[in-house]
Amino acid sequence: MRILIVGAGAREDALSWRLAQSPSCEAVFAAPGNAGTASRGQNWPIAATDGVALVKRCQEQRIDLVVLGPESAIAAGVGDRLRDAGLAVFGPNRSGGRLESSKVFAKRFMERHGVPTARARIVHSLEAAQRELDAWSSGGVVVKADGLAAGKGVVVAPDVEAARGVVESWYRSHSVPGGGTDVLLEELLVGREVSVFALCDGRATVPFAAACDYKRAGDGDTGPNTGGMGAYAPPQGLPADLFDRVRERILSPVLRGLLAEGETYIGVLYCGLMWTGDGLKVIEFNARFGDPETQVLMPLVTGDFAALLKSVADGAMDVSLAAVCGKSCVGVVLAGTEYPRRSVPVQGLRAELPLDSGTQVFWGGSTLVDGRVDASGGRVLTVTAVGEDIADARTRAYEAVARVASTLGTRELSYRRDIGDFAQRDRQ
Ligand code: AMP
Ligand code: GLY
Repeated sequence: MRILIVGAGAREDALSWRLAQSPSCEAVFAAPGNAGTASRGQNWPIAATDGVALVKRCQEQRIDLVVLGPESAIAAGVGDRLRDAGLAVFGPNRSGGRLESSKVFAKRFMERHGVPTARARIVHSLEAAQRELDAWSSGGVVVKADGLAAGKGVVVAPDVEAARGVVESWYRSHSVPGGGTDVLLEELLVGREVSVFALCDGRATVPFAAACDYKRAGDGDTGPNTGGMGAYAPPQGLPADLFDRVRERILSPVLRGLLAEGETYIGVLYCGLMWTGDGLKVIEFNARFGDPETQVLMPLVTGDFAALLKSVADGAMDVSLAAVCGKSCVGVVLAGTEYPRRSVPVQGLRAELPLDSGTQVFWGGSTLVDGRVDASGGRVLTVTAVGEDIADARTRAYEAVARVASTLGTRELSYRRDIGDFAQRDRQ
């Protein structure tokens, strides 16, 4: 198979790395790709959202499978265009992507179909938001802008007063993140967070793998929210029958709902869940693989991953191909020192990094220029290591981080020191 991966982040580098090793993969391409994907296949200088150019190049290059990485491509309708042109696509159409691109759509969908989720009120103006907050019973409030806002559209407010401040600043300055006016005021859930990735072929859906990510910039889950500063898999401290519960409580009603609404959802459904005292609840859906979760899942995937994704894209998922080994993986993100406030480009990084077997580096937004890497400076790379358990993987990952950081010889990168450290997480 000749496979195109759409996107430019470390998630896409990890997908390309795993797909390239699949027995049924002949060649991998990426659009626009990054320094990592350039090292194992051709990068096409086409934006992830440019459906017209992607269709043309895929036809010229006889692509057998397209894997959509980022939400921007899905929301731009790239899946629709490629499918209309007869290509096999792993990733939903724009309408299925609304489960991610509109939090209001997703919340109403869950309410219509009995999917357990945080209680929420939807408002369209400051006055309506204030009325809701006046009547708010107690506890924290999560304030969420409706549209895609690159992680900036959610504020976890510890109390009603703080929530008031958020809605006032958004509405008064006409700057609700994502550009719309719809806002959700959501009950603050307390518990353990986990990302479960379910494969959907339009007719069936199965949990495939799970991981936990670290969203805050600083150690001990402090500082601003980011795209994700690290991850580990498999998740810890969750019920052993997690996947059965997800299948029964979340995926069954979701699939019934999709079918009832005539939505043929093909790809991965990322279920952002909270394991609360009241069972599993959905925090959010995403219509794509997670970043950095994918960087820790791909090293654990075994078997013919390319054939698995192709079977999903063809609407005939072969679950016997869905295999993940019993080891653990920890991934640490190295980011620009001013991330997430600002992305400052970091140039001239060494492309060849010293790695032991079982460790891997996945590049984020970057280009390979004369054997050196120019990075755009947000999340620059993810260093991952596989181990017998999380503690082992964590030790190996941080050894690799130290080697990588000293080889790169740059002070322009920073990273969290507590990824996979449960003693730290459990203290919170
Ligand atoms: P989202 O973009 O919806 O995933 O929100 C970003 C992060 O905010 C999530 O990963 C959670 O850590 C947190 N969050 C969102 N909604 C809730 C909620 N209802 N209760 C507690 N935390 C939440
Ligand atoms: N790791 C969070 C996300 O991919 O949305």
